[in-house]
Amino acid sequence: MKPEELEGAVEASLRRLRQAAGEALPEVAVLLGSGWGGLASRVDGAVPVDYAELPAFPAIGVGGHAGRVLIGRIEGTPVLVLSGRQHAYEHGDAGAMKGAVRTLAAAGVHTLVQTNAAGSLHTSLPPGALMLVADHLNLVQRSPLVGEAGNRRFVDMAEAYDPGLRHRALAVAQRLGRPLREGIYAWQLGPQFETPAEIRMLQRLGADAVGMSTVPETILARHTGLKVLALSLITNLGCGLAAEALSHEQTLAVAAQAGEAAVELLAAILAALRE
Ligand code: HPA
Repeated sequence: MKPEELEGAVEASLRRLRQAAGEALPEVAVLLGSGWGGLASRVDGAVPVDYAELPAFPAIGVGGHAGRVLIGRIEGTPVLVLSGRQHAYEHGDAGAMKGAVRTLAAAGVHTLVQTNAAGSLHTSLPPGALMLVADHLNLVQRSPLVGEAGNRRFVDMAEAYDPGLRHRALAVAQRLGRPLREGIYAWQLGPQFETPAEIRMLQRLGADAVGMSTVPETILARHTGLKVLALSLITNLGCGLAAEALSHEQTLAVAAQAGEAAVELLAAILAALRE
């Protein structure tokens, strides 16, 4: 989409969301990744809007993602829940979620909570565990901001994952007795999984988990001034660290088992964002 087209699409998307909400739009948005779909059933008074009705939003292809926004409340906190991301591995475009993130910013959203499924780089962070993203490695070296003009494109990424939000998330996990460890998320383009040599490389580079999403949206969010919190649901050990072969079916199966506890914690974190 050309910049002028994107602007028009963002405005039209915002109008549709405002019409659906019928009141002020929430200031917190949650982007659901694989395994986190259960959060959608926790939205009270949910008003659904399909991505298809929002011209700035992408068409969704991967199994397990629905492609719609729910406007409502989770444990009292007003939220926009986005089910479905378009990934860079679908076409090579890291800016697939640009229109969606711009729409959130235009709507007055100040916090983007991202969720994903990821592979672990340590046997001490096993399948079913949760990791709070403290920072990321963009080894893909692609940016959704390529082609942007102006000085704002040179975004400071020092605190890409907001320290204040992380502190609050860790406090909630501790209060609930739910283990939550901070770590570094390495973005890989995919869609193939890593080789054992790549997993060893990522370990040496200081990564704790690896996945195929989140980083482009974090860059987009920082560009528009949104704070970001990101949670990874570990669905497998990285290639070569365990005996079994990796597959998307396995990602979804582990996510289905562990997803409920993950969603429980996320709902409690969202409740705490209102305090
Ligand atoms: N690698 C990359 N992405 C992933 C993985 C993985 O092992 N597991 C879930 N998403």
